[in-house]
Amino acid sequence: MMQNRAHWTNRLAFVLAASGSAIGLGNLWKFPYIAGTNGGGAFVLVYLACIAIIGFPVLIGELFVGQQSQKNVVQSFEVLHRHRTPWRIAGWMGLVSAFLILSFYSVVGGWILDFEVRALLNQFATRSGEEIKSYLDTLFASPFRVLFWHFAFMVLTTGIVANGVKKGIERWTKILMPILSLILLGLLIYSFFLSGFNQALGFLFSWDTSQLTVDGVLEAMGHAFFTLSLGMGAMLTYGSYLDKNESLPRTALTVAVMDTVIALVSGLVIFSIVFSHGVDPQAGPELMFKTLPVLFAQIPGGTFIAIAFFLLVAFAALTSAVSLLEVVVAYWEETHNKNRTYTAIICGMAIAILGVFSALSFNVLSNVKVGGLTIFDLLDTITSQALLPLGGTLIALFFGWVLGKRAIEMVMKTGSEKTFSAVILWCNRAIAPLAILGAIGYKLITS
Ligand code: PFF
Repeated sequence: MMQNRAHWTNRLAFVLAASGSAIGLGNLWKFPYIAGTNGGGAFVLVYLACIAIIGFPVLIGELFVGQQSQKNVVQSFEVLHRHRTPWRIAGWMGLVSAFLILSFYSVVGGWILDFEVRALLNQFATRSGEEIKSYLDTLFASPFRVLFWHFAFMVLTTGIVANGVKKGIERWTKILMPILSLILLGLLIYSFFLSGFNQALGFLFSWDTSQLTVDGVLEAMGHAFFTLSLGMGAMLTYGSYLDKNESLPRTALTVAVMDTVIALVSGLVIFSIVFSHGVDPQAGPELMFKTLPVLFAQIPGGTFIAIAFFLLVAFAALTSAVSLLEVVVAYWEETHNKNRTYTAIICGMAIAILGVFSALSFNVLSNVKVGGLTIFDLLDTITSQALLPLGGTLIALFFGWVLGKRAIEMVMKTGSEKTFSAVILWCNRAIAPLAILGAIGYKLITS
């Protein structure tokens, strides 16, 4: 059975696919706006620390569980521990998270497609600021339009996953990720010549810790998980297509560094544009959909910048969505012995249908609220504040305590790696779980 399992062609294929999963809306949309609303540099510093102390060690743990079990997100715990182990609850939580997250992630993916088409139709450079600002609301006002783009995004995602690990995911990430990097590099060079570049540098890298709040720290921690695609088995599933002998530390480091660099560069590009026009960096979630588009209309070559920018975001969102669907499809395919195309279509359709509720929560269902939250916000909150951190904690504890010393010895083999093995082990055993549970506890007490 095992020899039938797909494997990445080489290390590069894995690095591109895993970076494709990590680099997504979290880097290009969320990171810049949460850095903006949390005062910039101080937040960035904490974020970097969270990636290093929590994200990176847990990434190694999650990849290891997949790689050594060569199984999907639920069965991997059984292979490495024992049949029907209670630890497989972490796998179930991962499945549920991936299912829920993709259902609303693809709604936002749909907005990006809508904006990309507007850019292609030259609707940024030629229109007034007021009109451009209303694009998002116009989109929300049309349930049909929001649903159309949501389904279009799910069709693209499903199409890639249906073709399998090699012919689908590997092939497409090999095409999309280099284009994404080139577009971002082009935008970085462009922003270097903008008057706001230095101010953007100062904003992101002036480590002024006086601006730090507890909420900012918690947000940075949660985001470290989200941005590295941790806690729901995406990295575990991708790791399961890695050769058992492939060395993990260097590979994981490459993925974490690429993800971080892309987030920082995209922040730099966005804030250079923002500061060049004296606009408030604290715009929040609307930064990408209202603030930036208005600025595209004012800058030289704005149409091309808008086309390049939304294409970049669309590619990033797509390669992340693919990894979410893969978690569900890999599990279903392996446990129900069904073929991939069939499984991908069924799972893709089920997620797309669930996503209808999120898509409509901006119009028809905007009054349907649970605990004051719309369906979209509710799913976002449940997954990012509860399921992901808890799933991540369980995987870290499983790696740290159940697999323990023997596992870390298998991972950290060379001399320089051995130096850090105790650090990685204890980050998984105690530091990451305590930090996460502390954050959840704090939120429960203060809310
Ligand atoms: N890491 C992705 C981002 O930053 O947008 C989001 C994500 C993808 C989270 C896949 C979790 C996941 F399994």
